[in-house]
Amino acid sequence: MSDATVLSVVGARPQFIKAFPVSRLLREHLSEVLVHTGQHYDFGMSDVFFEELDIPEPDYNLGVGSANHANQTAEMLRRIDEVVEAERPDLLLVHGDTNSTLAGALVAAKRNIAVAHVEAGLRSDNWAMPEEVNRVLTDRCSDLLFVPSERAVETLTAEGVIDGVTVTGDVMYDAITRVRDRAPSASTVLDDLGYGDGEYVLATVHRQANTDDPTRLASVVEGLASSPRPVVVPLHPRTEDALKRHDLWERAKTELDVIDPVGYLDFVGLLDGAERVATDSGGVQKEAFYLDTRCVTLRDETEWVETVEAGWNELVGADAEAIRAALRRTEDLPEKPSLYGGGHAAERVVDDIVAHLRQEPPKTNR
Ligand code: UD1
Ligand code: UDP
Repeated sequence: MSDATVLSVVGARPQFIKAFPVSRLLREHLSEVLVHTGQHYDFGMSDVFFEELDIPEPDYNLGVGSANHANQTAEMLRRIDEVVEAERPDLLLVHGDTNSTLAGALVAAKRNIAVAHVEAGLRSDNWAMPEEVNRVLTDRCSDLLFVPSERAVETLTAEGVIDGVTVTGDVMYDAITRVRDRAPSASTVLDDLGYGDGEYVLATVHRQANTDDPTRLASVVEGLASSPRPVVVPLHPRTEDALKRHDLWERAKTELDVIDPVGYLDFVGLLDGAERVATDSGGVQKEAFYLDTRCVTLRDETEWVETVEAGWNELVGADAEAIRAALRRTEDLPEKPSLYGGGHAAERVVDDIVAHLRQEPPKTNR
């Protein structure tokens, strides 16, 4: 057991943040081999998180980079498989719902190696969303499914996935709890931008459905530009490309406060100080809830349904008028329920992995 090895696969920005509370803890109990697929590679989309959160240096960076879904995933499959062949792990751990998640899970499942999935059981019920395909298929490949809420248990049960499901809460709550107090002193972004608390709206946009459809993207820009407060937009490179491609760049640069993507400490500082946030991100919807920031979600549906039911998150899609109205809403928010655990999700994930590796011999037939 002490020699057991977990191979963790990360690759995109939100996965570095999810790995932050899990990886160090994992290493207190067993060996971890950390694999970065290279899906995200700009300093501000990758290295900054490893540096400021002190995430262990990846043992492998596969340098896969950008491509269409099939090519990117195919390259990941090939290269992760080579690492699995070399390292022969007892379990492969994946986070979230990106192409890196699915590739890791699929490689392990085909080699009969146990798969653990952090953030399992989430569904948007929108099969056109690439992440939904990744979620469903990854869960199907997984032996240990770590879910943030009872709703996710019900979702998996309805799909016939019952064994191996554990409600751990959300590891991103663990992450934000650890940096929330540190962010104000570690981050100068608000001073640099010249905004005080509550003087601006924060926005992030990168979802494929919004960036690749010029009508939706124009409508999002229109809606954000109608905000009564300045809108700070740390811009995902995908969205910068799309704005330029769809002839919306000048308008966005003129009417919004567009900045480069920021590190996690700066982002938490920006989100904490924002009057509200408008986003199509998955993670940011939850982080807004944790930081008591009102959230306007630029999507037609969400997998974080509980935040909407709690009255803290409003789904407005890409409708400019609905965005405008939501950015002006002033009614008091309802009392906040406790959702997604108490900030100890990483401990539960690690305990479960350790228990699993203790109880059962590795499934791999090496
Ligand atoms: C990916 C995930 C998405 C997640 C997001 C987090 C999939 C299918 N999508 O979307 O679920 O919410 O990461 O941010 O896995 N680019 C750069 N530099 C980088 C990274 C990307 O310039 O460091 C540009 C490239 O032009 C690339 C585009 O962004 O083609 C999209 O990157 P990609 O990783 O394919 O998808 P994301 O939109 O980032
Ligand atoms: N984030 C960040 N800097 C930014 C934008 C987002 O650190 O400029 C963080 C944010 O705090 C959250 C995560 O990145 O933890 C969300 O990633 P993203 O929105 O890219 O992906 P998603 O959650 O939609 O998969």
